Amino acid sequence: MLALTKVVLPIMENLTVPRTLAGRVALIVGGARGLGLAIARQYAAEGAEIAIADLDAAAAQSACAAMSPAAMSSRVDVADPASSREVVEQVVARFGRLDILVNCAAICLVDPLLDVTPERWDRVFAVNARGAFFCMQHAARAMTANGFGRIITISTPASRMGFPLFASYGASKAAVDSMTRAAAIAWAPHGITVNAIVPGRMTGGMIDALEQDLQRVTGKPADELAADRTKGLPMGRRVDPAEVAKAAVWLASDAAAYVTAERFNFTGGMELA
Ligand SMILES: NC(=O)c1ccc[n+]([C@@H]2O[C@H](COP(=O)([O-])OP(=O)(O)OC[C@H]3O[C@@H](n4cnc5c(N)ncnc54)[C@H](O)[C@@H]3O)[C@@H](O)[C@H]2O)c1
Repeated sequence: MLALTKVVLPIMENLTVPRTLAGRVALIVGGARGLGLAIARQYAAEGAEIAIADLDAAAAQSACAAMSPAAMSSRVDVADPASSREVVEQVVARFGRLDILVNCAAICLVDPLLDVTPERWDRVFAVNARGAFFCMQHAARAMTANGFGRIITISTPASRMGFPLFASYGASKAAVDSMTRAAAIAWAPHGITVNAIVPGRMTGGMIDALEQDLQRVTGKPADELAADRTKGLPMGRRVDPAEVAKAAVWLASDAAAYVTAERFNFTGGMELA
């Protein structure tokens, strides 16, 4: 019975369920929690080999352990281009190639505009803009060797809408929008597509983690801040990261081979409301 469960069932699963990303190697940066973790789980379920790299090495490791014995975890600080280069090299050394990069790593600092300091501005840009760029650049070098690649960047409605407490964050993600388009054009001849996903307000994740800062800066109590999170959302609810992750599966799949330089709204109409 044990042999049936351990040996035969996995073989049958592979035979009967066609998996969208079978044989692909995916690196999810910032994949230890939130949206990145939801994407890693769905990629694994679709048959991809998974590498999760994150500043929080322990969380990346336990995410991988829960996912698959073959999944690889690494520590990376995307603010340091040498660190992201090293991670791409580790993935290629381990799996022989890199097919898909999703970079979810980002930070958001809450600052009224008149209080933004050069140090806090630079910190946000070092992670969100410079970090995103050099992750893409290192990954594209590895992908060019195979003539195939899927790069997915993560933007935000704040890159276009005005959120006065998140100016540095919104501006850094506007840089992500721009570099996504440039990279898409530059690397299209090499079989690499580059697209941005724009999640709406997600459940959990970085915005909820800013609760204390928002309370301090706005003076609003927790229940009012909670109500603010759904205020003005056309669907009247926030989006689950697992819903957004489906877009990342599709963009990485063969079905999206001719899709590049796009900015995919998964915002429930938020940007146009
Ligand atoms: N949460 C939302 O409502 C929302 C909305 C729109 C866009 N986004 C974007 O979606 C993405 C994921 O957001 P989330 O809410 O899941 O965030 P999260 O904070 O839950 O996860 C971000 C991950 O990035 C990692 N990270 C942070 N700094 C890093 C660094 N220097 N190097 C490597 N890893 C680092 C963190 O450890 C964490 O695991 C982000 O790019 C964010 O800007 C989030």
